[in-house]
Amino acid sequence: MLPLSGTFPMAKISGRTENEIVADREALNQSLSLWASEALRDLPWRSTRDPWAVLVSEVMLQQTQVSRVEPKYLEFVERWPSPQALTKSNISDLLKFWQGLGYPRRARNLYDSAHRIVQIHDCKVPSTLEDLLLLPGVGPYTARAVLVFAFELAVGVLDTNVGRLLARWSGRSLGPKEAQRIADELVDPERPWLWNQGLFDLAALRCSKRNPRCSGCPVEELCSWRGVGDDPATGSAAVSTIQAPFQGSDRQARGRLLKALTSGPVPAAQAAAIMELQDERARASRLIADLQSESLITVRHEALLLGDLLQ
Ligand code: ADE
Repeated sequence: MLPLSGTFPMAKISGRTENEIVADREALNQSLSLWASEALRDLPWRSTRDPWAVLVSEVMLQQTQVSRVEPKYLEFVERWPSPQALTKSNISDLLKFWQGLGYPRRARNLYDSAHRIVQIHDCKVPSTLEDLLLLPGVGPYTARAVLVFAFELAVGVLDTNVGRLLARWSGRSLGPKEAQRIADELVDPERPWLWNQGLFDLAALRCSKRNPRCSGCPVEELCSWRGVGDDPATGSAAVSTIQAPFQGSDRQARGRLLKALTSGPVPAAQAAAIMELQDERARASRLIADLQSESLITVRHEALLLGDLLQ
């Protein structure tokens, strides 16, 4: 028979509550800004507050490594120092330039954003979350990055690295709204720019995905995880999952075609071969239709061209 009274084991609650995490804000702010003022990487987009340059850098950094972005960013801002400058170029010029960065839809969106900024915002990158989110391709991450890195507003920027770091500090997996709230609430109100750049570098240089170096971390004392036990970042909000292999992917085939088009138009009949999809005609046709609907290529008189005709 079961006892009528007695103690039942309580479900184990691991990690800290949102209030507990946020209660550490001042201590975190102090430790991180001390560390950041010494350790922050000297990256070219960090020496400007020009909203256009910041927008460009953040669009590039979304899916491309810092080391590959650096030279391209410098070349871009030299060539197109303002949204007006970009609107005077053809999209095909930008797509040629974008070779090597990957994910060319970003270039298309940046080009369309430049037009919107010129037409609707009097050539100035908007400074509110609402207006930034209406720019093509600008999501919550990029919009917030512009608010803090160009306008120095006190918002938290939640990318995959920061998502990982917040989950580890909290000692548990976080939901998306909660992670954004915590990112916002932890911002150093006096130094929002330094705080967010510091978090990026702490995550990239110390609290890395595969090889976190907890010993000697400037916020080790305030961290719930400290490298012991299962990684709380696994499955937490904003934290990236494993990427599908590039080899054999649609992305690779699309990249081959776009690269060929940077040298000039290509007969439509050759497109499948260029994509190395001779034996997968249906797939080749689908990819061409996708590129067209994304306004990255045009089909005219049985030939494919880079960009669209509305240039
Ligand atoms: N990744 C995204 N934005 C970044 C920035 N401003 N600095 C370094 N890495 C980044």
